[in-house]
Formats: sequence, structure tokens, C-alpha cells
Amino acid sequence: MTSISPRKILVTSALPYANGAIHIGHLVEYIQTDIWVRFQKLRGHTCHYVCADDTHGTPIMLRAEKEGITPEALIERVHGEHSRDFAGFHVGFDNYYSTNSEENRELACNIYRQLRSNGKIASRTINQLYDPVKSMFLPDRFVKGECPKCAAKDQYGDNCEVCGATYSPTELKNPYSAVSGATPEMRESEHYFFKLGECEDFLKGWTNTPGKLQAEAANKMQEWFESGLSDWDISRDAPYFGFEIPDAPGKYFYVWLDAPVGYMASHKNLCDKLGLDFDEYWKKDSTTELYHFIGKDILYFHALFWPAMLEYAGYRTPTAINTHGFLTVDGAKMSKSRGTFITAESYLNHLNPEWLRYYFAAKLSNTFEDIDLNLEDFTARVNSDLIGKYINIASRAAGFISKRFNGVLCEETYADLEWAAVGRILLISIGNKSDAIAELYEKRSYSQAIREIMALADQVNQFVDNFKPWELAKQEGKDAELHYVCTVLINAFMRLTVYLKPVLPKLAKDVESFLNFGEQELTWEYAQRLLVAPHSINPYQHLMTRIDQKNIEAMVEENKQTLAPVEAPAAATEKAATPAFEIAPIAETCSIDDFMKVDLRIARIANAQHVEGAEKLLQLTLDIGNETRNVFAGIKSAYKPDDLIGKHTVMVANLAPRKMKFGMSEGMVLAAGGDGGLYILEPHDGAKPGMRVK
Ligand code: 2FM
Ligand code: ZN
Repeated sequence: MTSISPRKILVTSALPYANGAIHIGHLVEYIQTDIWVRFQKLRGHTCHYVCADDTHGTPIMLRAEKEGITPEALIERVHGEHSRDFAGFHVGFDNYYSTNSEENRELACNIYRQLRSNGKIASRTINQLYDPVKSMFLPDRFVKGECPKCAAKDQYGDNCEVCGATYSPTELKNPYSAVSGATPEMRESEHYFFKLGECEDFLKGWTNTPGKLQAEAANKMQEWFESGLSDWDISRDAPYFGFEIPDAPGKYFYVWLDAPVGYMASHKNLCDKLGLDFDEYWKKDSTTELYHFIGKDILYFHALFWPAMLEYAGYRTPTAINTHGFLTVDGAKMSKSRGTFITAESYLNHLNPEWLRYYFAAKLSNTFEDIDLNLEDFTARVNSDLIGKYINIASRAAGFISKRFNGVLCEETYADLEWAAVGRILLISIGNKSDAIAELYEKRSYSQAIREIMALADQVNQFVDNFKPWELAKQEGKDAELHYVCTVLINAFMRLTVYLKPVLPKLAKDVESFLNFGEQELTWEYAQRLLVAPHSINPYQHLMTRIDQKNIEAMVEENKQTLAPVEAPAAATEKAATPAFEIAPIAETCSIDDFMKVDLRIARIANAQHVEGAEKLLQLTLDIGNETRNVFAGIKSAYKPDDLIGKHTVMVANLAPRKMKFGMSEGMVLAAGGDGGLYILEPHDGAKPGMRVK
């Protein structure tokens, strides 16, 4: 093995937004990065892995409002949920922080001031759509209406999900605010811009520096240079949850301005905790290394804005941006209705996190290529490779060592015996792969690394089949041979574990206990070390089980239940024949004319939110085609507002408006209910807002 001189490395993964759950799509990146970081640490380098929640912006502000809590309370809760999910998948951040921190405010403001004094900030007045009911400017995604190209209804302000057209929100027909349902107005506002166009020469030089970007990223950059770099709008008007811009009251940094600064802030926080030198990592001529792992959708922010911001604010620029593709499940985009939009939490309810780490590693390369989680292949590969080829090596050898040799491995001197040459060669050939496998991890070619490791496991299994320890155990005078064969197997297993340790950290820890390492940990050098007498190992206990298809099915089922009541009462799942609630008697007969007096309409739930101070109510904005209605519905115990938005239901449209403590209620939604739970009605696909129900 070539000797390695220690490096100082800082690594980041993209900061997840603080308004949503971590799902397996996110995990591709965190697992990819975590494997790389663990590998670097295993090689003896100083490597810090920092991340944080991305907490600012309009969606988080509105989400908190909808839940009836402050943005600070929302981001604190989500920080707990994200930290729990990452820990569950053994993603070992050295620091998991928040962009809503004092360190981040200070760094973002200082970077802005530096950019301004370097002449890279401009301001000018722009026109933007404004919601007169909510008194706020609307981000593109919060304006909806009919697509200007294909007339599909309810499309977002930036692109049509039906025909794929892109446009500006002002081009939408019959636009409405997705926040209040109101018709937006055009208003003027002064905005601040980062003059990206002036950074072109620097960015071209940076892009052409070898090692900074993958080939696909460099090509993308070329396209962006050719279509011209426009100035970047970095300000947003109040109300906005974020940092106020220095010397610009009422103007806030756009979330994407302070988000990457969050990498620095998290690192600053870590340095302060550990007494490390922050400037050593971030000064212009730093000799430390800085890597950002990201998805291909946010390359523009990381390869254009971020290096330019750092450069013109007087900091070092990234050593490299490592970009990956997206995740599909069973060959398609993750889907809530198919149950393949799998949250980290639901995965962990049913399956072992290291199975997914292994599967992702077996699929990941250092390109932009998307990876597919094929649930059948997932089961087959984990069961046949991880368990069948690797774990079984230990289980096949350990019993004999424990029972026949009191747990003690054999003397190294046996290695001189002629029949032992095969074992010696096997161990040498595993050890000799150390540099090649390290090189594959280093360049993030994990799938190739896993192929190499599994090819070595195949060789070990061939050795088992040739020497058949279970037969040696039955023969007279074969004890020395049995001891040696099993010792070779334990050593082979240890070496393979070293190679898999970045991918399977929890398992590797259990192997360290099994191998009786005490305080000692497996480091990369152990890929070439030998464990021999008087070292003893502990009795074998199950290190990992096989995947049972039933658990996968249960996980998929759990993820299908997107419109389920928050806490479905037990009765909700029971059969109609044995209702666990009392069936109310049928009401007195009414005439058809009586019934026709009730005007029932299909309504689209344009918005749903909590009502401050109300225990039972949710406030719904119902779109009934040509108007919207404000309705207070007593369904808070059964539904989360977010699960209702965008769904269709049925409302009584001609009920006399009622003045309630919280405002006017202009109708009523239909819901089945009583002791057996509460379920709002949802029409079959195809029913449109405004259609009469009779
Ligand atoms: O796309 C996203 O999910 C962003 N929250 C990523 C931010 S990465 C970094 F720049 F902060
Ligand atoms: Zn369209």
C-alpha cells in the first residue's frame, strides 16, 4: 500500500429545506457523501462533514402560518425530524446546523458588503405580481392559472406540468394567488442584484481548471456561458422569513443567497465548538480542500453563483463540485399514489438502513446518471451479495473456531504448510486490492468498488467450496487444516469488512466486536493485517438478516396513505359488517324538491390552514370554478392542512353565510363522520370545480 500524507478536507451535502420530510430521493446524496467522508476518515485524513437545514423563504413562512406556529418553531421541529432521520441512516455529520443562525447572518451580511464594495451589487425597480389580500409579492410558484399554451387549469407560474411549456407568471390566463385565491396585481418594487455577468471571465477560468467539475457539468457551464449570464436577483420584499439586507430596510436576502453561506456558518459553528481555525479553511490561498456534493438540479447555484460570490468576497473557491443524478423507483419518478415516494421515516419503520446504503453504493458512479431503486433487484442483490456472499463467510467459519478451538485463531506458522498456500494467496490477493479499491472510493466510483469487493468475496466462497470445512470437521487428523481454513476465512472477512466499512458503518462496528477488537477500530491498514493466535474471536451472532419481501410491501403500503386521516381510528379499518360505531337511524323522508334546494358543488381545496386559537377548525379556501369561498370546517382532528391542498371535495354552496368568531364561513364541506372517524368526501377523477352534484 502506498503511504498517504494526511489532508484537511471539508465536505458538504446540499441543505434540505426545513418544511418537508427527508425521503429516499434525498438520501442518495447524503449516503453518497457520507460514504466518501467515512472513507477519508478511514484513510487517516482530517475530514469534516457539515450540513444544516435551509430555513428561509416564502414556502417555510407560509407553512408555519398554515400550522399556526412561528417559522422558528417550525424549523426547530423539522431540525429534530431531519436529525433523527439522518442518524437513522448512519449519516455522520460532524455538524448539522441551521441557516437561521447568527453565524450565517454575520457571514451573509459580510459577503454582501464585500460584493458591494467590489462593485458587484446593483439595484433597480422591477414589476412583480402582488397578492392584495395577503399583502405580499408572489414568488412564481405561488401564482397559478391556465397555461398560456395548452389552457390546462391550475398550472404554476413558471411552467406547465401538462404540456411542459415554460413562461412567466404574467402570461398565465386567469391567474390567481395560490396563497389566498385572489387575483394578483402588478406592482413595482426595488430589487438588489448580484452582477453575475461581470464574473464571466473568472467563472470561465474556474470551470476550465481541471478537477473542479465533471464532464457533464463543464458542458452545462458552456451552454450557460453561450446563452449569457444574467444578473441575479438576490432580494425579496417583506413579509419574508430571512435576513434583512444591510442598509436596505424591508428587503431580505433571497433564500438562495444565504443557503450556501450556510455551509460556512455550519463549519464556523463546528470550528468554534472544537477550537479549529475557520480561516485556515476559507482564506483565499487555503491549502485545505473543499467539496460540495449536490444534485444536478442545483448546479447553477453551486457552479456559477457560489464560486463567484466567494471569489469577489475574498474567500477561497471550492476544490470541486461533485454532482449526482436523481433517483427513480421501479423505473419511474417517485409517486405518492404508487407508494414509492418513500420517506426516510417509513423506510426505517420496516427495513435496515444499511441495505439501502449498500444498494445505493452498488449503483452510484461519479456521473450525472440517474439511479433506479428497483425493489425486486434491491431484495435480490442484498440477499445474494451482501448476505449470501459476504456475511456467510463469517457465519461459515466462526462456529468451528468457537466450538473446536475455543475461539482462538491459529498460529501464523501454519502458513508454511504446503496445503496452506492457497489460503495465503487468497489473503494476499485481497490485501493487494487495497490501493485500487481506495482509488475507486476516492473518485466516487462506488459501483465499481462494490464489484471489486464482491469479486473478492466470490474468490473466498470458492476457497470455502474447495476446502469444505464442514467435511474437514468430520475427518480424523484434519484439525490443523480446519483451524487454518477457518482462520483464513476470518481474516478474509475482516479484510472485506475494511473495504465495506464506508458503506456499512454499523455492521463494521458489530464486526469489530465479533472479532474482539476491544477499543481498537478497523482502519484501512487492516486490509493487509493478519489476525493470528493468541487472538481470539467472540462467538458469532447474526450480523445481518435477509430482506423479507413482506417488509417492502408493508413500507410501500404505508407510503400510499397520503390522504389518510391523521390518526385513523381503529374502527376505520374494520369491515362494514362489524362496525365499531353506532349507525344513526335514517332521517325523515324528504321530497326531491326539498333535496334540490341544497346546491352541492364540486370544490377544489385551493388552500387549507390552521386557525389560530381554534381547537377543531381548519380554514379552507374552496375554488368552485368561478369564485372562491372561505369555509371553516371542523375537521382539524382528522386532517393535516397540507394533505388537503389540491384535493377535490363536495360543498354546500347555497348555505347562508355564517359569521363565526374567526371570520365569515361561506358554505360547508361534506364529510362522513360520527364515532367511527371523520372523512371528507372526494369525487372520482374528472369532476371539476363548479360542477353541480345531485
Ligand atoms: O434544493 C434544495 O433543496 C436547497 N435547499 C439546497 C440548498 S443547498 C445550499 F446551497 F444551501
Ligand atoms: Zn400547458
